[in-house]
Amino acid sequence: MKEYQVVELLGDGIGPELAEASRALFDAMPFKINWEPIDFTVEGRKDQSVYDRAVSAIENAGFAMKYPTATVAESPNQVMRKRLDLSVIHRPVATIPGVRTNFTKKIDLDIVRVATGGTYSDPGRQIGDHAAVALRIIESGPCRFAAHFAFNLATKLDKTVTSSSKYTIQRFTDGFFESICDEVDRAFPKIALQRELFDALLAKLIMKPDNYQIVLVLNEYGDFLSDMACGLVGSLGLGASGNYSFNKDYTARLAMFDAAHGTAPDIAGKGMANPVAIFLAGELMMIQMGEVEAAKATRATIFELLEAGTCTGDLGGSLNTKEFTEEVVRGVKARLGNG
Ligand code: NAI
Repeated sequence: MKEYQVVELLGDGIGPELAEASRALFDAMPFKINWEPIDFTVEGRKDQSVYDRAVSAIENAGFAMKYPTATVAESPNQVMRKRLDLSVIHRPVATIPGVRTNFTKKIDLDIVRVATGGTYSDPGRQIGDHAAVALRIIESGPCRFAAHFAFNLATKLDKTVTSSSKYTIQRFTDGFFESICDEVDRAFPKIALQRELFDALLAKLIMKPDNYQIVLVLNEYGDFLSDMACGLVGSLGLGASGNYSFNKDYTARLAMFDAAHGTAPDIAGKGMANPVAIFLAGELMMIQMGEVEAAKATRATIFELLEAGTCTGDLGGSLNTKEFTEEVVRGVKARLGNG
């Protein structure tokens, strides 16, 4: 049986319940995870050397699953992104059965975002009383990493890639990004690259969401697009993301996966936590491990259960965390034929 080492960054609130659910899901897989838990709770982070231990454990293992953590002083997500040089974020956003939405069409997008630079590091200044400037920084390294990641994902999942920016107006910066997308596209002759101006993309995504699968964007656009897409599928909290750093040959060096929601202190310890987002984070980890069948089985099982109304209370169902997890485990085993 194939084995993987995964660091578990254990969090606050509903974190322990999610960790238990996540372990149960991975126990159902035809491969083995050797978990390496690290206490990332508020208490555990009082000793800040926990970050050093987490960094070195993840450098060793290559994979980390991060559970929600309460932000007290620093944001652990930000610290880890910086310390591990996680320069690309993968954020799938799909219509989730059973979640009511204003938007009636189906959406199934993989947003691949350059997670550094743009205007977000804000090296700017005020000029006198009436003006301010900022520098927009686009570096080839993270753009190439993101583009390779998007094309590799397209190859693995048999999907198309669309790059998007304002290259006609921001010719130097966005034009530079698009030229890198073209260069990487040439290395993947089987995958076609579509290109859209970012403003047009927003409109077209709403009118014809079927035309878009993997969308490759710079930092700010990725930020806006992720939240808009979450709004379209009616949930900011059921999503998951993968954060990646890379080797010089563009293969992923380290990956950290997490759910979009927080620690939900109001329901912590009550067995009410919905593990869907952390399971979807697990699905991303399986894709990265190359366990694509397991990933597909996980997603299909969850979506089928939600469609049938088999879910936790927050989505209108009657199951607790453990009962829903058991349903997912049963479904995944049946799909993978290892039950
Ligand atoms: P939250 O996402 O924890 O909770 C918002 C609402 O959604 C609450 O009513 C909660 O019960 C519900 N909810 C969240 N996740 C749920 C789940 N899996 N199942 C069922 N219901 C769920 O956001 P909030 O209240 O703003 O933040 C609470 C704490 O979480 C704060 O300390 C914040 O700093 C932290 N946080 C951590 C994040 C991370 O570690 N990635 C992300 C967002 C917030």
